[in-house]
Amino acid sequence: MADPNVIVLDHPVIQTKLTELRDVATEPRKFRALLNEIASLMVYEVTRDWPTEPRPIRTPMEAMTGRALARPITLVPILRAGLGMADGVLHLLPDARMGHLGVRRDEATLLPIAYYQKLPPDIADTEVLLIDPMLATGGSGAAAVSFLKQAGVVSMRFVCLVAAPEGIAALHAQHPEIPIYCAAVDRQLNEKGYILPGLGDAGDRLFGT
Ligand code: PRP
Ligand code: URA
Repeated sequence: MADPNVIVLDHPVIQTKLTELRDVATEPRKFRALLNEIASLMVYEVTRDWPTEPRPIRTPMEAMTGRALARPITLVPILRAGLGMADGVLHLLPDARMGHLGVRRDEATLLPIAYYQKLPPDIADTEVLLIDPMLATGGSGAAAVSFLKQAGVVSMRFVCLVAAPEGIAALHAQHPEIPIYCAAVDRQLNEKGYILPGLGDAGDRLFGT
């Protein structure tokens, strides 16, 4: 049965850019640009039901009460590859503060290793977008969500580009209430924990390592 807490953003413009991003011929410079563009496009849908509040202003003509986002926002990229989406999100949410979580997969065990954490002190009072292009085994994402929960975060969304069914199942086994937004759910993982068809190693393609 389809997981109701997985939202696939299959807008034609997102899909077109994702196809280009996946292409092995796409070099780091273009890869970086596309990743940020897709992240920007995803923000519209990811934030669609965030609360707004009245905001009194003056137009050049008269006073009025507009509406604006009610809660502060924190963007938390999972290092390294999550950084590749950050500028795209900040382009639309420039007032967001940023936290950073360093998590990398052990290449042999595929288990997550957390190596860096720096969060805004008031993160618990904000809407959090946790971003990482890849949800593969789900280990890194689940570890990051656990850490944010320990920091008191109550409202968070996980935003990725490509998710494997295995990663969705693993993340939701531990954190079923966390919405997962992605641009595609791919077929499966290979024996080394890479997503098929996927886009390869996101961090390496971003940073040319
Ligand atoms: C990649 C990716 C995710 C993780 C997903 O990071 O950016 O964080 O793998 O895999 P998982 O769902 O199986 O945990 P990686 O560990 O390669 O580190 P990097 O971003 O520094 O390259
Ligand atoms: N991390 C990546 O960057 N790519 C994958 O396919 C799996 C994990």
